Amino acid sequence: MCIVKGVILRKAQVKDKKGIRTLLKSSKLQTWYLDDNLDNFVVAYQREFVGCGCLCLHDGVFELRGLCVRSSFRGKGFGSKLFKFLMKKAVGKKVSQVFVRLENKKLVSFYEQFGFKTIAKSQCPIKTKMPGINVLPMKLFLKNKQ
Ligand SMILES: CC(C)(COP(=O)(O)OP(=O)(O)OC[C@H]1O[C@@H](n2cnc3c(N)ncnc32)[C@H](O)[C@@H]1OP(=O)(O)O)[C@@H](O)C(=O)NCCC(=O)NCCS
Repeated sequence: MCIVKGVILRKAQVKDKKGIRTLLKSSKLQTWYLDDNLDNFVVAYQREFVGCGCLCLHDGVFELRGLCVRSSFRGKGFGSKLFKFLMKKAVGKKVSQVFVRLENKKLVSFYEQFGFKTIAKSQCPIKTKMPGINVLPMKLFLKNKQ
């Protein structure tokens, strides 16, 4: 667990699952992987549930998924805090690449600020299903690998 300026960031627990699912669905993000990946989710709370994000390991690379903040809390830094907390989990795991497959292409600049670069689909090693969605893959090299 980590507390940043009154925001609690921690691993998701079973009790968080309903809130995560509702939030992802309301933001039109996929939820099919939630049950099998609850352990890979983190959540943010500021008195109430604010947002979530997930980092999954696939064949030696990380995939960032389901980074989502409740609409009334957006633009206040929660998404960045969740992202940084997830990256802390990633550093030191002997994995140097993180991929995100954008369902909403308007978020390219959000991810670019953290160093992600857009890549061709053929360069993305993660092929798990994203039914009916034309995703835009982006890649980040973790420089502080330990
Ligand atoms: C993407 C998302 C998690 C960002 O969360 P947030 O709490 O609003 O983000 P932050 O407040 O930490 O924003 C950090 C920076 O990113 C920028 N940013 C936030 N949302 C952005 C967007 N949609 N497009 C471009 N830039 C964005 C902010 O302006 C801010 O920049 P600043 O530091 O210069 O002010 C949130 O918009 C969200 O939940 N979107 C819907 C779900 C979604 O599509 N998730 C992506 C799944 S791949």
